[in-house]
Amino acid sequence: MRLQGKVAIVTGGALGIGEAYSLGMAKEGASVVVADLDDKAGVAAGINASGGKALFVKTDISRKAEAERLVAETVKKFGRLDILVNNAGILFTAPVLETTEEMWDKLLAVNVKGLFFCAAAAAREMIKGQSGKIINISSIAAVGGQAGLCAYSSTKGAVLPLTRVFALELAQHNIQVNAILPGTTDTGMAKAAMADPNWTRQITAGIPMKRLGRTKDLLGAVLYFASEDSDYCTGQTLIVDGGFSMV
Ligand SMILES: NC(=O)c1ccc[n+]([C@@H]2O[C@H](COP(=O)([O-])OP(=O)(O)OC[C@H]3O[C@@H](n4cnc5c(N)ncnc54)[C@H](O)[C@@H]3O)[C@@H](O)[C@H]2O)c1
Repeated sequence: MRLQGKVAIVTGGALGIGEAYSLGMAKEGASVVVADLDDKAGVAAGINASGGKALFVKTDISRKAEAERLVAETVKKFGRLDILVNNAGILFTAPVLETTEEMWDKLLAVNVKGLFFCAAAAAREMIKGQSGKIINISSIAAVGGQAGLCAYSSTKGAVLPLTRVFALELAQHNIQVNAILPGTTDTGMAKAAMADPNWTRQITAGIPMKRLGRTKDLLGAVLYFASEDSDYCTGQTLIVDGGFSMV
């Protein structure tokens, strides 16, 4: 098991891609803290019931105090923090001229500031042990231009320099900070758009592998960045999108 004895936080870990990260990391031996607005599907309870170790911490990452409490509760329960998967995110789609100030404020609060609050709180704890892994979840929307995604793409773009600066400043503490850029993946977030069969057909046609991503497609990348396999890799980005962004 690649993460035996490690303690990991997965923000947005109760649903979608985050749920796959929570379950997959628990399978690899990590104690997993599922941080989310709620845990309706009972991901943490499911991990405990199947012999793993997990804790649900109700967290709104856009609130700095809640991000700090998340780390404190993790350390209280499991004694340390080794891995943060900074996955929670929200999406609004709108043409540029219909993108509102409220959309911007909400997207920035969760996708940029919330991600920063969690990374900073985790880094403070990891520095004490002089080791750690921070994995920020961006999107292929950060590197291409997709209609309707002006504000969302901008917030996901912001994750890239944020990752590099954290990586640079934390390298001296043996903390690696990397980012994953998923392609369109079959989750609740993509559901609204996927309800339109034309949209799904159009997107799928542009993917060399001719299918949308599944949540399990993203697990390998997170396990690489969470494990000692990536100990000499920092400030990097890995695109997992069936080849969509290469053409
Ligand atoms: N699904 C895709 O096609 C896709 C593509 C590229 C990148 N991503 C990114 O991957 C990540 C996960 O996406 P997903 O598709 O699983 O989304 P999802 O909507 O299925 O799940 C997101 C989870 O984050 C939680 N969350 C939202 N706001 C939160 C907050 N303020 N505090 C704590 N938790 C919060 C939600 O409750 C939910 O459980 C996001 O950062 C998203 O931007 C998704």
